[in-house]
Amino acid sequence: MNFENRDIISIHDFSKQELLYILKISKLMEKNPNPNLLNNKILATLFFEPSTRTRLSFLSAMEQLGGKVMGFATAGMTSIKKGETLWDTIKMAQAYADAIVIRHPLEGSARLAAEASSKPIINAGDGANQHPTQTLLDLYTIQKVKGKLDNLHIGMLGDLKYGRTVHSLTTALSHFNPKFYFIAPQALQMPQTYLDELKEKKIKFFTTANLMKVSKKLDILYVTRIQKERFADPVEYEKYKGVYKLDTKLLPHIKKDLKIMHPLPRVDEIDKSLDDTQHAVYFEQAANGIHVRKALLSLVLGRIK
Ligand code: CP
Repeated sequence: MNFENRDIISIHDFSKQELLYILKISKLMEKNPNPNLLNNKILATLFFEPSTRTRLSFLSAMEQLGGKVMGFATAGMTSIKKGETLWDTIKMAQAYADAIVIRHPLEGSARLAAEASSKPIINAGDGANQHPTQTLLDLYTIQKVKGKLDNLHIGMLGDLKYGRTVHSLTTALSHFNPKFYFIAPQALQMPQTYLDELKEKKIKFFTTANLMKVSKKLDILYVTRIQKERFADPVEYEKYKGVYKLDTKLLPHIKKDLKIMHPLPRVDEIDKSLDDTQHAVYFEQAANGIHVRKALLSLVLGRIK
């Protein structure tokens, strides 16, 4: 499988075989340090929205493989401030780097960047749309902690309307015969377009606002933050913030081998008291980002075929 020069924009662009191949390369990356694999390659990281994990793990992955990094963590110090367009910014970055990672608040921005660039573009989150590299590390984590991806009962909880991580992950897991439980207040439920996609693929799903109604059935509970920055109306955010707060009171109501995931950052939806239980895998999940991002960089830069 050849990924050289390929853009990573949406999980919709990848077949099941391709997803499994990336996971296989990620595993190889975890086993082997490969300190010179990306020698003489430069990665540009253009972050127009805040990030801790995605940006730092891309930087770390690139440097661990012998590559170099450049870029910005906020657009405030760039010529965007003077009115330069995203298109022109990408035209410049592609002249200075071998690949570009971009996070931007506008849906479709990564696709636009890919049109402007002859170098590979990796989407690190475009608004409420997609976050494909997060999804790959989520799949990697599920495979590791459950030993499989097939036939799992997956709960998605929180802001499912604006949550790009749940959108990407739902599409990816659809290849593996899951049953989904979408747990959110009605106003923050999964967008109809994703539910229609599931119906078309004959994937079973159930929607509810009440976690307790389904908690005993779940193999994975994927928790997300109510995202203040996505609400146009602050009054709406006030209505839903704090709607789910998981703590050890949940434990009698779940399977012994349930794994709780979260793309992070968390606010108050998972209490620290759950961190040291056998269920919590969210920090391990974030750490897995290094292996998966090493794999993606090596593939799109043509150093692994
Ligand atoms: N999961 C994730 O995208 O985290 P950051 O926003 O910190 O990058």
